[in-house]
Amino acid sequence: MAAQTDQNSKQVTSQWVRETAPVLAHTAGGRDWYVLTLQSPQVAARALPGQFVQIAVPTGTAGAPIDDPLLRRPLSLCTIEPAADRIRVIYRVVGRGTALLSAAVVGQRLDVLGPLGRSFPDPSLQGGALLLIGGGLGIPPLACAGAWAAAAGRSVTAVLGARHAGDLAGIAQVQATGVPVHVLTEDGGAGRRGRVTDGLEQRLRHTAEVWACGPEPMLAAIQSACLHAGTPCWLSMERPMACGFGVCAGCSVPKAADDGYLKACVDGPVFAANVVRLMAANAAPAQSATTTD
Ligand code: FES
Repeated sequence: MAAQTDQNSKQVTSQWVRETAPVLAHTAGGRDWYVLTLQSPQVAARALPGQFVQIAVPTGTAGAPIDDPLLRRPLSLCTIEPAADRIRVIYRVVGRGTALLSAAVVGQRLDVLGPLGRSFPDPSLQGGALLLIGGGLGIPPLACAGAWAAAAGRSVTAVLGARHAGDLAGIAQVQATGVPVHVLTEDGGAGRRGRVTDGLEQRLRHTAEVWACGPEPMLAAIQSACLHAGTPCWLSMERPMACGFGVCAGCSVPKAADDGYLKACVDGPVFAANVVRLMAANAAPAQSATTTD
């Protein structure tokens, strides 16, 4: 069995696999971010939007220690194409691990492990208009999410934004799904000037459900608005992830009830908005649904 649906949350978890995946394409995007396409048939066959993979970083250095702590990087899936045996991730270079990954060339074989974590809820199990909201490196996972929901017959709209035009990672992949996209940037360099949360209360009047991914203050504002409006909302959380298997506790997310913690790698990274407690400000920016160096 490749996947299981949680009947309470309607989220999907998958049996992970490890495979060697040739690089099909690897291109630089805007400000320090890259689009990496891999031939990964087993992961593509199992993965669903919201899940992530762990990619072993090629050190490129003869004699590099095999216990190098930087060997695997968790990255959210941007596109999933089982018919073409392809997956795609988008990541930002923020440290040594991702800098090493950015040097991977076409044809190079990368060690991929996944899919991991819990997906967005199965869109076929709910009706009504779905609003996707993405900020910065939180945009890429919404490409496969939007395609999934649209294929299930949902009416889907995306509101995507970033500080600058060069930070709109993955927006082309979302637009390629055919989902209507509204773009905002804080400096007005692309789309309208503003933030993705501007006018959210009005949008929620015509929205049955929200899926969001991005920096924590953005998610906190969306969570607050959705809870106030009574709109079901799912948040893809960005957290540091070391193990990806629920062992290290490095990805803890406080429970809304203030009675402990959830782990983003196994309980998430996608959470129902009413089960987690978020910080409205002073949260470190991260990338995709997982933070890495
Ligand atoms: Fe180790 Fe989640 S990444 S417990």
